[in-house]
Amino acid sequence: MIEDMLRTPSAVRDAEKYTAHNYHPLPVVISSAEGAWLTDVDGKRYLDCLAGYSALNFGHRHPQLIAAAHAQLDRLTLTSRAFIHDQFADFCRELAELCGKDLVLPMNTGAEAVETGIKVARKWGYQVKGVPAGQANIVVAEGNFHGRTTTIVSFSTDEDARADFGPYTPGFTVVPYGDLDALTAAIDENTVAVLLEPIQGEQGVVVPPEGYLPGVRQVCTDRDVLFIADEIQSGLGRTGKTFACDHEGVVPDMYLLGKALGGGIIPVSAVAANADVLGVLKPGQHGSTFGGNPLACAVAIEVVRLLATGEFQRRSAELGERLRTGLEGLVGKGLVGVRVRGLWAGLDIDPALMSGREACERLAARGVLAKDTHGSTIRLAPPLVITEEEIDLAVATLAEVLAG
Ligand SMILES: Cc1ncc(COP(=O)(O)O)c(C=O)c1O
Repeated sequence: MIEDMLRTPSAVRDAEKYTAHNYHPLPVVISSAEGAWLTDVDGKRYLDCLAGYSALNFGHRHPQLIAAAHAQLDRLTLTSRAFIHDQFADFCRELAELCGKDLVLPMNTGAEAVETGIKVARKWGYQVKGVPAGQANIVVAEGNFHGRTTTIVSFSTDEDARADFGPYTPGFTVVPYGDLDALTAAIDENTVAVLLEPIQGEQGVVVPPEGYLPGVRQVCTDRDVLFIADEIQSGLGRTGKTFACDHEGVVPDMYLLGKALGGGIIPVSAVAANADVLGVLKPGQHGSTFGGNPLACAVAIEVVRLLATGEFQRRSAELGERLRTGLEGLVGKGLVGVRVRGLWAGLDIDPALMSGREACERLAARGVLAKDTHGSTIRLAPPLVITEEEIDLAVATLAEVLAG
C-alpha cells in the first residue's frame, strides 16, 4: 500500500522507458541536494559517497559557486570563441597558475580534454620532435579509462567499453599499469607521449607502486616524450593534494582536467601545458563552440579560487585518514582489499559475500549512495565537504551491509 504511494517506482520505470540503456543506475530518483546530502522524490535522504564521480568535489550547490553561476546567468552566458569575453583571461590565468603551466586550453567534457591532449601530442611530435608524418604513437596503460569517444575506446582494455565500436584508431601501445620496465620498452623513436591516470579511478582506485610516476617522468624526459597526466578524476583536491601527481613530486608536461573544474554545475574541462607544447596549435586546428564559455569560466574561476586556498586539499587529506582507518577495520570482515588516497577509496568486497552492485543497492536502502566499478569493487568518493561524523556514518553503514 505504502509502496503504491511512492513516486520512485514509476519515475524509475519512465526513465527506463524513454532512454537508451547505456547506464544501469541504482533505482533512486533524486530531486534536490545540498552539501553531501541528496533527497529523492519521496523525501528520503542519502549521503552522497560518489560525488558525481568526483565532479562534485565541493559538494552540491556550494554557495560560492552557485552565486557565481547566478551572477553570470544574469549578464552573459555564451559568446563562442569567435569573440573574447570578460571571464576568459581570468579563468585561463588562474588555472594556469594553479597548474604551474604557461597556457590553458578550455573544453567541456573530460573525453574532449583527452582528445585535445592526443591531438596536441601528435602535432608536437611532428612539428617539434620530428616524427615522420603519420607515424606517431602514444603509450597508454592497461585498465585505463579516459572517456568514451571512438579514438579513446580504441585503446581501452575493457571489452564492454571497446567491443563493436571499431574500426579502431591506430597509434596506441598498451602496457601493464605500474610496470616501468614495460613502459620503457614500449617507447620508440616515434613515441610522442605517455598518457596515464596517476591513479586509475574507474579501475577501482588503483594506486601504482611508489616510484612508478617519478620513473615515468624520468624516462619521458630522457626519451623526449610528453608525459600526459589524466587528472580528470584524480585531480583538484580529490586525493588530498591539488593533483595526484603531487604525492610523488611529479610534474607532467600536460595536465588533463575536468569533472570538478565545473563545480558540479556545468561541464568544464581543460588542458594545461607550457607554451612549447600547447603553442603548436594554430587558429582553425582545434576548438569547441562551448569550450571556455562565460558561464563555465565564471564557475571555474571560483573553483580554482577554492582550490587556491588549500582548504579542500587539507580536508581531503585529513578526513581521508579517518576514512582509511574505518575501512581498513573492515578488511577480513567482508572486505578483502582497500586502497585509499585522500577521500577516494576502492573497496574489494569478498565476492563470496555479494557483488559490488548488491552492496551498493543495500547501501542505498540504508541511505548511502556509492557505485560499483568492476565486479565486486566499489569506489567511494564523497564530496570534500563531508564531515567526520558523516564519514563514520558511511563506514558504519558499510559494516552493517557487509555483516548481512
Ligand atoms: C580519468 C578519466 N578521464 C576521462 C574521463 C572522461 O570524462 P567525461 O565523462 O567527462 O568525458 C573520466 C570519466 O570518468 C575519467 O575518470
